[in-house]
Amino acid sequence: MDVIGEHVALQRRGKNFLGLCPFHNEKTPSFNVNPELGIYKCFGCGKSGNVISFLMEHNGQNFVESVRFLANKAGITIPTDDITPKEQEQQNKTDLAYKALQSALEYYSKQLQTKEGSSVRTYFLNRDFSADAMQTFGLGYAPDNWSATMMYLIKQGYTQETLVDAGLVIEKDDGKVYDRFRGRAMFAVHDSMGRVVGFGARILTDVKDQPKYINSPQSLVYDKSKILYGLFQAKQHIRQEKSSIMVEGYADVITLHENGFRNAVASSGTSLTNEQLDVLSRYSTTMYLVYDGDAAGINAAMRGVELALNKGFEVNIVTLPNKEDPDSFVRRNGAETFRTFLRNAPNFIDYLSEQYKQQGMLATPKGQAEAVRTLVKLISLVQDALQRDIFLRSVAQRFSLQEQLLYDELNKIIPSKSLVPVPQQYQQKKTWIKNGNKRELLPPAEKLTIQQSAITPEEKILLKIALVSPHGFMMMEEGFAVSTDTFVTTEAKTIYQAVQHAHHHGVEVAGHVMMNEALDQACKNIIGELLFADEQLSSNWSNFDVELPQLDIKKAISDSLLSLSLIKVIKQITEIQNKLKENDDHDTILAYMELVKRKNAIDMQLRGITIDEF
Ligand code: CTP
Ligand code: MN
Repeated sequence: MDVIGEHVALQRRGKNFLGLCPFHNEKTPSFNVNPELGIYKCFGCGKSGNVISFLMEHNGQNFVESVRFLANKAGITIPTDDITPKEQEQQNKTDLAYKALQSALEYYSKQLQTKEGSSVRTYFLNRDFSADAMQTFGLGYAPDNWSATMMYLIKQGYTQETLVDAGLVIEKDDGKVYDRFRGRAMFAVHDSMGRVVGFGARILTDVKDQPKYINSPQSLVYDKSKILYGLFQAKQHIRQEKSSIMVEGYADVITLHENGFRNAVASSGTSLTNEQLDVLSRYSTTMYLVYDGDAAGINAAMRGVELALNKGFEVNIVTLPNKEDPDSFVRRNGAETFRTFLRNAPNFIDYLSEQYKQQGMLATPKGQAEAVRTLVKLISLVQDALQRDIFLRSVAQRFSLQEQLLYDELNKIIPSKSLVPVPQQYQQKKTWIKNGNKRELLPPAEKLTIQQSAITPEEKILLKIALVSPHGFMMMEEGFAVSTDTFVTTEAKTIYQAVQHAHHHGVEVAGHVMMNEALDQACKNIIGELLFADEQLSSNWSNFDVELPQLDIKKAISDSLLSLSLIKVIKQITEIQNKLKENDDHDTILAYMELVKRKNAIDMQLRGITIDEF
């Protein structure tokens, strides 16, 4: 109740509390909270759950993070297993850096109200930033002084070392220290949970040899490749709007928010990274990429499209007239015009085709072929097979080409992609003909599995991913076609089935599976072990979705699948060896040889050797 009340304005209605649902857009409240049972339900969009699922859904935290968060709030410390003194020291340094940055934010925003800060206040007001926006985005003023900020923070009890760790103070080789930000307009940078991790500092009047922005450095708490500017303020709106707007700068985000586009975020300064996309995809996988129409903008858009498609995003590209950025565009042309631009934003195929046309690439057959190949390559990145199909057809139509030609081109690309875990040749059911009878070489996977009591390490990895990472689960289902058949032990099959069930019903997975009554004690023990005994796998896994780059998840999945297929083949070999003792007919021998080849091939793959033929 306390937790939910922090995020939603609630009013008492009898036993329950009622408010506007944070998960969808509504004007009349249909979001009910029952404090006695600690549950909520929205009668508008149907979302329901408990505090933990609320935090997972609302903050994008995973199960373990949510539990930690609640424990923290209640003043309970969850022991982190066997933390070394060195790790503890690092943890303390990190905590202090966060605190110092928060105090700095408070200091800078107070300075905004002083006489000296009035020029910055005027600057913000001239950019049409409201007092509300200044508060929400943590805007402020850093005094034009070499040590004012440092002095203030040291008086607050921070050490110089902490201030250096936080990136607020610069330490020269000779040991001299001074404030990093001086006489500038300050933009606080938050992480997705709202902690201040750094600042961007804009100069007020152009001065030669002075950079327009000075940004906080990469630090203990600020990993630039992971942070999206404005995500904390935008995340709820991204979820409601079911899309995000990706822009370049601080001012762009704030102006868009002020004009009702509250789902805007910025990569701010750096070009978009895979990690940023991973974080963003937890809220929505539809994105409007907004770039200006100059050459640099187009290049950035191309690169952004490729990365985003690869991460499963649906990307639309908004091109602004030359020399405009979203901030200047909206201020000049108004929110409605920008909204029209969003509504008419082309998908990557239409966008790129238009670019190619303008570059004159489509004038020659050679140029056309190159354009089509590039498009097909991008389509191959789309993870949803149905969508791939639709895109491919649209290219065929646009360029008046036979669809089959494009499929052939696509198929040339896809088998070589790491998305397909087991080489194509294993996946195809090989058939051969004997006496006119078509027979399958491999019996269905189900028959191969022999009951085992303990689940295998590979199964543990896969189940852990499925339990804690919605992303990983999607990847397993869609990218790797994992099913209960993938697993070899009955326990693992049963647990995976429960996980699937929870995902398909849109409920919070880990908690739901743990409480699933259909699971016996043995399965529950395994789940408990997977969720709470981190050290068995990797200590990073408790923060799976945040900490582990997508690629690592993908690799973990594909390696585990490969090992599992090896286990299966070895079992098949044992079975067929027994069969050979009684019956050594031609077919059985052929099948045996085929299996041995398969085993060798998987062996080699596991050792990192790839083979095209076998
Ligand atoms: N940026 C930066 N360092 C610079 C210039 C820009 O880090 N020297 C980043 C900032 O994140 C900035 C974004 O790039 O928000 C966009 O730059 P720009 O549009 O030049 O910044 P604005 O403050 O919007 O400038 P202007 O008022 O001229 O529109
Ligand atoms: Mn600008």
